[in-house]
Amino acid sequence: MGRRRKPRILENVTITGLADKGRAVGRYEEKVVFVENAVPGDVVDVRVMKKKSGYDIGTAIKYHQESPDRIEPFCKHFEDCGGCSWQNLAYPTQLLHKENTVKNAMTRIGKIEVDTMLPILPAGETTYYRNKMEYTFSNKRWLSEKEIESEAEFANRKALGFHKPGGFNKIIDINHCFLQGDPSNAIRNGLRDFAIEHDYSFYDIRAQKGLLRNLLMRITTTGEVMVILSVHENDEAAIKHMLDYLLEAFPSITSLFYVINGKRNDFILDLDFHLYSGKEFITENLGDVTFKIGPKSFFQTNSRQAVALYDKIVEFADMQGEENVYDLYTGIGSIALYVAQKCRHVVGVEEIEAAIEDAKENAELNKMDNTTFYAGDVKDILTDDFAEKHGKPDIVITDPPRAGMHPKVVDILLELESPKIVYVSCNPATQARDLNLMKEKYRVVKMQPVDMFPHTYHIENIALLELIVE
Ligand SMILES: C[S@@+](CC[C@H](N)C(=O)[O-])C[C@H]1O[C@@H](n2cnc3c(N)ncnc32)[C@H](O)[C@@H]1O
Repeated sequence: MGRRRKPRILENVTITGLADKGRAVGRYEEKVVFVENAVPGDVVDVRVMKKKSGYDIGTAIKYHQESPDRIEPFCKHFEDCGGCSWQNLAYPTQLLHKENTVKNAMTRIGKIEVDTMLPILPAGETTYYRNKMEYTFSNKRWLSEKEIESEAEFANRKALGFHKPGGFNKIIDINHCFLQGDPSNAIRNGLRDFAIEHDYSFYDIRAQKGLLRNLLMRITTTGEVMVILSVHENDEAAIKHMLDYLLEAFPSITSLFYVINGKRNDFILDLDFHLYSGKEFITENLGDVTFKIGPKSFFQTNSRQAVALYDKIVEFADMQGEENVYDLYTGIGSIALYVAQKCRHVVGVEEIEAAIEDAKENAELNKMDNTTFYAGDVKDILTDDFAEKHGKPDIVITDPPRAGMHPKVVDILLELESPKIVYVSCNPATQARDLNLMKEKYRVVKMQPVDMFPHTYHIENIALLELIVE
């Protein structure tokens, strides 16, 4: 039998910062090391898990000095879950690191002066801020090291919770999650206990067997609750039994759906959703705009902070009522509809057709007839002909995915010479790259980082660009 290699231990590593994806980083003998379970200011011994040519990846195993920025995480699942990986950092420190992420990207990649950057806008609520959550059922609850070492027998390993980071078949059983408000925790725990009591099978990810697969919940600030249960096979009696239990135990549910997913993966957006009880959609308000959200609709996951973000966009755009606005990467048109009453006309472009259908429906619902929506790739739709048809824009709002804008989109924006561009981004690195590509014609006037997701490394940044007039 082969002998196990002794793990390499790096001693007394000082954690100096947070790198990409919020990973703690330090140096050992000039080599960069990314360290799990550490925060800036810690001095730790690190067990190396992966050795790469330019860096090592490891986990902290001994703390010689704890950072003064460390705080006690408030969630008991913190160590295992990974969902709120910065919960052990005080909120003001989290904000500081997020600001620094934007500053570093802008100076290193964008070569942009950061004196234009406003202090980060904190989130109004740092817990229970998500309107959408998804849980996974498993018949093999993930066991912690302590549980394994105890050598106890765990007869019931049924779990309903989150994937352990990096483990497709490791599900952590969740009893309380601080991300979604009531009745989310009660529904998840109630359904799990009911299913265990009545001996319904939980999915076995490896064997691809078992009835219960996923539970999705959406809760709006208007008090509506959508629950979607995903099951592996059409066991009508069992499905009815569980859904009737939910309706009786949680009368606040306003839309109850189920989905039969016999596929190998958990993706359900390509499947039929069956409405069991209640309405086909829930409604959410962002400012004065009402949105209908169906079970398949994309929607901003933090409604209250989305309003804060959109208010900043409005402030940066400073519309006077007569502008022709393009909203690129519009999703379900949420920004387009938010600004529609403040300008003459908005055109939204988005590649997902279903999202554009939602955008059109929501435009009608809100009686906003000064909006036009197109489904397609921005790089193909935004052409000279398009600009001729809709008129050159006075303001472009662009909110691309993490990859940033395609070079063709940057080129056409440079050609269109809109007097103002408001660039919203969830990835400062690609935003900085794009701003740099535009700097011959556009000056960055101001920037506003916004925290949408407390206790995570995610950051949103808005940049206002003005055309340089010679
Ligand atoms: C960051 S989201 C912005 C959504 C929207 N602005 C909002 O505030 O809810 C980016 C959107 O761009 C869409 N998208 C991604 N690549 C695209 C492309 N090449 N052309 C058009 N839309 C795209 C995605 O489907 C997604 O809806």
